[in-house]
Amino acid sequence: MHIPGLALGCALALTTGIGAAWAQAPQPPARGVEFYRTACAQCHGDDGKGGGQVARLLNTRPSDLTTLARRNNGAFPFVRVGQIIDGREDIALHGGREMPFWGQMFGFEAGDRFGNRMREVYVQGRVYELVLYLNSIQQ
Ligand code: HEC
Repeated sequence: MHIPGLALGCALALTTGIGAAWAQAPQPPARGVEFYRTACAQCHGDDGKGGGQVARLLNTRPSDLTTLARRNNGAFPFVRVGQIIDGREDIALHGGREMPFWGQMFGFEAGDRFGNRMREVYVQGRVYELVLYLNSIQQ
C-alpha cells in the first residue's frame, strides 16, 4: 500500500536524518510543486498571483495565492486552504464555483486501490501537498 504522507516521512528520514528534517522549515513535497504547475498555474499563474492564461476567460479573477497569510493577519490558514482546494465541503454549502473540486478528483485518482477509509487519507495527503506548496510561496 502506498500512502503519500508516510512515503514522504520515510524519504525525509532517510535522506536528511530525522533531526535535520525537524530543524529545517518544512519543504513542500516535489509532487505538490509539480501538480501546482500542471493543475493550478493556468488560472493562478506560475507565480501564484492570479494571472494565468485562463484567468481572463473566467467571471471571477483567480485569487493571488501568495497573500493568503498576509490576508489572514500573517498566519497561513492551513485548514481553510485545504478545505478550499478540496472543495467538497464548499459545493455542499454554497453550490457552484469556478474553481475545480480537487478532493473529488483525487478520490477518482485513488479509485478502489485503498478501500473507503484509506481513500480519504490519500485525498487529504494529495491536498496537503498543495497546501504545503502554497505555504512556501507566501510573501
Ligand atoms: C479554472 C481556474 C482555476 C484552477 C485550475 C484553479 N483555481 Fe483556484 N481559484 C480559481 C478562482 C476563480 C478562485 C476565486 C474564488 C472562486 O472562484 O470561488 C480560486 C480560489 C482559490 C483559492 C482561495 C484563495 C483565497 O484567497 O481565499 C485557493 C487556495 C486556490 N484557488 C487554490 C488552487 C489550487 C491549489 C489549484 C490547483 C490544484 C487551483 N486553485 C486551481 C480558479 C482556479
